[in-house]
Amino acid sequence: MKRTHTCGELSAKDLAKDITLAGWVHSRRDHGGVIFIDLRDRYGLTQIVFNPDFKNFKDAEKLRREDVIQVKGKVRSRPEGMSNPDLKTGEIEVLVAELNILNKAEMPPLEVDDRIVANEEMRLKYRYLDLRRPIMQKHLKIRHKIAQATREFLNSQGFLEIETPMLMKHTPEGARDYIVPSRVHPGKCYSLPQSPQLYKQILMVAGCDRYYQLAKCLRDEDLRADRQPEFTQIDLEMSFVDEEDIYKLVEGMMKHIVKKGIDKDIEIPFRKLTYDEAMSAYGSDKPDLRFGMKLIDVTKIASKCDFNVFKNAESIKCIVTEKEMSRKDIDAMIDFAIKQGAKGLAWMKMGETGKLESNIAKFFSEETQNNLIKATEIKQGQVMFFMSDKEKIVNELLGKARLELGRRFDLLDNKMIEFCWVTDFPMFKWNDDEERWEAEHHIFTMPKEEHLIFIPDYPGKVKAQCYDLVLNGVEMASGSIRIHRADIQEKVLNIVGITKEQAESKFGFLLEAFRYGAPPHGGIAPGLDRLVAMLLGYNDIREVIAFPKSKAAEGLMDGCPSEMDEKQYKELHLKSSIKQTKTKLFDEIEKMLNTNDARFEVMEHRPVYTCEEAAKVRGTKIEQAAKALVFKADTKPVLAVLQGSKEIDEEKLKHILNAKILKMARADEVKQIMECDIGSVHPFGNLAGLKVIVDENLLKEEDIVFNAGSHTISIKMKSSDYKKVVEPRIGSFAK
Ligand code: AMO
Ligand code: AMP
Repeated sequence: MKRTHTCGELSAKDLAKDITLAGWVHSRRDHGGVIFIDLRDRYGLTQIVFNPDFKNFKDAEKLRREDVIQVKGKVRSRPEGMSNPDLKTGEIEVLVAELNILNKAEMPPLEVDDRIVANEEMRLKYRYLDLRRPIMQKHLKIRHKIAQATREFLNSQGFLEIETPMLMKHTPEGARDYIVPSRVHPGKCYSLPQSPQLYKQILMVAGCDRYYQLAKCLRDEDLRADRQPEFTQIDLEMSFVDEEDIYKLVEGMMKHIVKKGIDKDIEIPFRKLTYDEAMSAYGSDKPDLRFGMKLIDVTKIASKCDFNVFKNAESIKCIVTEKEMSRKDIDAMIDFAIKQGAKGLAWMKMGETGKLESNIAKFFSEETQNNLIKATEIKQGQVMFFMSDKEKIVNELLGKARLELGRRFDLLDNKMIEFCWVTDFPMFKWNDDEERWEAEHHIFTMPKEEHLIFIPDYPGKVKAQCYDLVLNGVEMASGSIRIHRADIQEKVLNIVGITKEQAESKFGFLLEAFRYGAPPHGGIAPGLDRLVAMLLGYNDIREVIAFPKSKAAEGLMDGCPSEMDEKQYKELHLKSSIKQTKTKLFDEIEKMLNTNDARFEVMEHRPVYTCEEAAKVRGTKIEQAAKALVFKADTKPVLAVLQGSKEIDEEKLKHILNAKILKMARADEVKQIMECDIGSVHPFGNLAGLKVIVDENLLKEEDIVFNAGSHTISIKMKSSDYKKVVEPRIGSFAK
């Protein structure tokens, strides 16, 4: 047996027992010949003790952090006054009789210690070390509990857990698909699911009645703290339901999850706001209800004044702070609003005399001021902030100011759990760029029955049977009652400009299924990562994902995405432009360097696109990076080479080259001239018949490094050899 107990288990009940423990060396303290080690595993820490008479004391002395060991010994109580009440095992220690070193650890590149958090890149690269930290273990455990509680609850409500395919046809969710090329069908691809939306609807047609799945969803979109390219949804769908049925089910599920996950009781039912109410009172469809300070519409009152900005305004709204504010803080808020794009932020403060004080108070009659005081119920010391503009803009920007005030007044308490429903979303939104209507949620969402008459003439008026669940200002879930009738689906597709033929080719299988008896149905999908993160008080969902991607969608630990073998590209009927450029051009460069007996080193790495990034990835100094830029000097191409840390002084270069016009070449010209992409241009202009001019400072570096015509391959060489091979002109044109 490798162990009899875990490191979080032993207590005074186990005194005098002979036990075996195994785990990681968390810390070591030497006290006058006695060695104390905290042995760690997922369950906790246990203090183990090596006395000087221990037979392999020398081995114990050599133990280092993160070594994996097994010890056999006897449980004894800690001496008087030495127990640690904060630790489950704090009353006891284990006197070691036998030590087995199971695996020596190299010096860990980051500390397994909750108090010392490494930078994001290191945490992701050495995720297995980061995950050893007790806090990360706790996150994984709570995520597990929440996943189990979800299953428990949904199972108890008659749901079936059904898996849907990962390789599928594109589902229109609004982001870009991750694509998997088919080997067997040249030129054809699978999409990875942005969500199981279509499958779950088809499961309803299939008579499954209640479906759920902890579904992996993949979306190629710009990442943020609460967005990952892969994430998990608690995806569910139900037949013969209306909106109220879904609310009730989800409220029950959330109550169960929160209790089981973090042992808190929450009130249900949740508050409900229509989309219009949320926008009007909070300026957001994700209202943060942890604090008040609602937007108050004072257009009618405040437009009756001599203040020009307000006189003919479409909308004037204000918020009243809950606390007092200094003039400096008021000015900081005005700066904030202007940075967000507001034209201004007017303010008034309730003075001690019960009168409003402000730089603009003089424009408001006493009656108007009194009406404002009445409408806003402002109290002494409180400040009113006003914004006027088009209503949509006031809502958005005053909503942001409200959140900022919440932050400044410390009202965004992460311990609070304020769920709410936002209902009655518009069915369509106008896409300004593409000048067309698109679905606010998705095209399978059922419009409100009574609004069907607005289609097709007034799409903007149509509200949908669509709802979001919001938690502390974050969209936690989205869902809708779906269209199950072909005639309504057709009308909706018409509005968003999807023709019958397009619909047939994109999701004809769903429309076909609907022709064979589709029950009315609806569903929702809470984001599991966001839910766990928020319940633990985080905004960044990476804290609760075992192996998240970096902000640039890379797996820093395994190094994905990565290049494939040439054979794999071939099998998938793909060409790798990077590989091909590299081989041909790189061979040429290598041959030239070898012919000239130059000393050089080749580095292969993940794709890099800038000198900073390249320096980081290669582990070289940015001053050593040889940045090569193609210019056209009076239409003749030249290659200017300088340090990656510097910029070109075009005036100086123009002067040295004695050119009338100096222009940087366009990307397509660079490709044509140098046979490689910008960002990977090598400094051997001579290979392409170009004049080369090098900044003198670069040549002062002993070694120089550069992309050798590909984003993934670099060469490091002696600058003296470079000079010998290229015989460039040397000048001073960097700044
Ligand atoms: P939607 O696209 O709104 O709806 O997604 C539902 C929920 O999934 C979570 N979520 C994400 N979490 C992390 N990273 C992401 N990139 C990400 N994108 C979305 C959010 C969001 O509220 N098929 C519909 C649901 C339905 O109608 O039943 C859908 O996917 O918490
Ligand atoms: P101005 O006349 O531009 O100096 O503005 C006088 C005050 O009105 C300043 O405090 C501005 O911040 C504020 N202000 C200007 N435009 C707006 C606006 N659209 N909404 C609210 N306040 C504004």
